[in-house]
Amino acid sequence: MTGFDVQQFRQHFAFFQQQPDWVYLDNAATMHKPDAVIDAVSAFYQRHNSNVHRGAHRLSQQATAQFEQARATVAGYINARNNHEVIFTSGATAALNQIAFGLMHTVLQPGDRILLTQLEHHANIVPWQLHCQRYGIIIDVVPLTAEHQLDMVAYQQLLQLKPKVVSFSHISNVLGHIQPVAEMVRQAKAAGAITVIDGAQGIVYQPADMQQLDCDFYVFSGHKLYGPTGIGVLYGKSQWLETLTPIFAGGEMIDSVSFINTTFNKLPFRLEAGTPNIAGAIGLSAAIDWLQNYNIAQIIEHKLLLLKAFYSGLSAIKGIDILSLPVHNAGIVALNVDGQHPADVAELLNQQHIAVRAGQHCAMPLFSYLAQHNSAQHGAVRCSFAAYNTLDEVNRCLLALEQAVEILTA
Ligand SMILES: Cc1ncc(COP(=O)(O)O)c(C=O)c1O
Repeated sequence: MTGFDVQQFRQHFAFFQQQPDWVYLDNAATMHKPDAVIDAVSAFYQRHNSNVHRGAHRLSQQATAQFEQARATVAGYINARNNHEVIFTSGATAALNQIAFGLMHTVLQPGDRILLTQLEHHANIVPWQLHCQRYGIIIDVVPLTAEHQLDMVAYQQLLQLKPKVVSFSHISNVLGHIQPVAEMVRQAKAAGAITVIDGAQGIVYQPADMQQLDCDFYVFSGHKLYGPTGIGVLYGKSQWLETLTPIFAGGEMIDSVSFINTTFNKLPFRLEAGTPNIAGAIGLSAAIDWLQNYNIAQIIEHKLLLLKAFYSGLSAIKGIDILSLPVHNAGIVALNVDGQHPADVAELLNQQHIAVRAGQHCAMPLFSYLAQHNSAQHGAVRCSFAAYNTLDEVNRCLLALEQAVEILTA
């Protein structure tokens, strides 16, 4: 018993009433939305729909107030120093692209180094690579240990090469491992680097405190935190946000425009060109407000209970190769049935209405590494748990996996 009432929690999700047959274990891809979020988005469209920061009428002023209140809610949730340190983007991918592009144009010089890790999502690799090739910047990569954890000794050694930027994920979207981000930021700062954290999975596990972490940038997507798709957050310290060259240019982000020259608006607007996702921001803030009714420590405990039950069940099934470690794990488990394609396993689960993801999970460099060590030639099956999952669902998944092993290896 954790003190967390999962049945009460589930009642806030229309999805589970509409689709009672489904066991949804694809939460690392996207989460379901509580009614509070769906209601907030539809209330905005039904009652307040207007553009922000530009209307001469009261509806627009109300929409602007709601939108800016959403920014304040996000800033409060991550303990940013100022509301203008929260830039709304379309998601973590857009935020990482903005940082990579923005730094490449201003801070980075040919011959500079960027430090990434072996387990990054493509969204924290390709934006850097795209610009590195053009600007002659070198990417170094922190390797993993035999247990598939970041090699912190190698990290320290690579920091001695004095990278200008160090960018890493808070939690691996494939393995679920929680990285020692506070220590990584501390060491990177001591080496003089700008620190970027991909918090797409991290923020879901627990709120991240920007002032405590002291990173320069932190990004995440609303849709993985019970919010709508199409909204994300780029947090940055003011001094770094001021430095970024905007990746998008157009309305709202300018101060004055002529055909000779353009001057830019102040933060946060200079990095939010065009009409923002107003309903998305309002939905994300509704998700955060709603989530704050719950005790995060109890939610974590509940997820750990599910994880423990899942691992214990998996260990009793012969022929399963588990790639994720059970410790320092946020509730994401990558596994394979020995010798079988993960898509075949996922399809057998799908036939029993169990939703998981199979493949390389936008982390091909991680799988090139894992493939040298075990069964991960074609990727892996990923089961990712959320607070609304139950022990019954864990057991249904275990039974389906056991049957999959029998069918595929018969
Ligand atoms: C660790 C990580 N980074 C970045 C992303 C990209 O997020 P989005 O597709 O919402 O922009 C994801 C999505 O799965 C992720 O898990």
